[in-house]
Amino acid sequence: MKKVRKAIFPVAGFGTRFLPVTKTQPKEMLPVVDKPVIHYLVEEAVASGIEEIILVTGRGKRAIEDYFDKSFELEHTLVERGKHDLLKEVLDIPNLARFVYVRQPIPMGDGHAILQALELVRDEPCAVMFGDDLVFGDRPALSQLIDEYERSGDSVIAVTEVPDEDLSKYGVVSLEGEFGDSNSARIDGFVEKPLSLSEAPSNYGVIGKYVVTPDVMNMLERVQDKFKEDEIDGEIRLADAFGLALDDNLSIKAKIVDGKRFDTGSKIGMLKASVEVALSRDDLKDEFMEYLKGKL
Ligand code: G1P
Repeated sequence: MKKVRKAIFPVAGFGTRFLPVTKTQPKEMLPVVDKPVIHYLVEEAVASGIEEIILVTGRGKRAIEDYFDKSFELEHTLVERGKHDLLKEVLDIPNLARFVYVRQPIPMGDGHAILQALELVRDEPCAVMFGDDLVFGDRPALSQLIDEYERSGDSVIAVTEVPDEDLSKYGVVSLEGEFGDSNSARIDGFVEKPLSLSEAPSNYGVIGKYVVTPDVMNMLERVQDKFKEDEIDGEIRLADAFGLALDDNLSIKAKIVDGKRFDTGSKIGMLKASVEVALSRDDLKDEFMEYLKGKL
């Protein structure tokens, strides 16, 4: 079985939910305390065995490329000032993995973004990580998906239990059986953003982490071909490829990931993630806790 060595990050979106800050700043670069969200995600991928990070960027996203690049002037200044700890942190960033960039010329959906990286992953399973979901826990969330892929050879979608009132924001899976000991189950249906509760087949919502096998990639290409043939305007979504794959009876797994999840694509999720990280940091937690207590 081929190893999952590469991860695609579609990061070309506008980040409208965080305007005005995202007018000049990619949303993936918004900090949770002192690291951008995308840095946490790259660390998660690397800790899961990923060697190559493929960032699908677009206009206005150059800050991401600069972030994962060397910064001679900054490094020089830190050396001169004797700031060795900070220097080490800065030097480590470009060495996290091999970084590759492709552009998505027009924002035509996450599936279209992923297709821009197709030639880089052909015939290999790959991870796909959307820029929003941080999961903190003992084991990196992506590695839990990769374990399931290695067990079954199937594509794997991360899911989490979602309360009724939030289901309309998620892709919701319908399951063939129960989640077993491995916390995974075969999917037999998929409803992207159900309009009403009665349309939601379960309470398990998709979070933006996947292992995608080449056959699902082929489905994504088929979706694109259909768009071209029928001159359809609109977004090509990874969710559409999963829909086609299920129609074709391909086996796809849902996996409940262990850990505390934060949706940094929403303001409240971003605030919660910041509090969580701050309270886990020795340099911040005491003073910050005092401050929070004073607010209660
Ligand atoms: C995407 C997926 C959806 C998933 C969500 C998780 O939607 O299409 O299935 O539940 O990410 O964040 P988006 O939120 O990008 O519209």
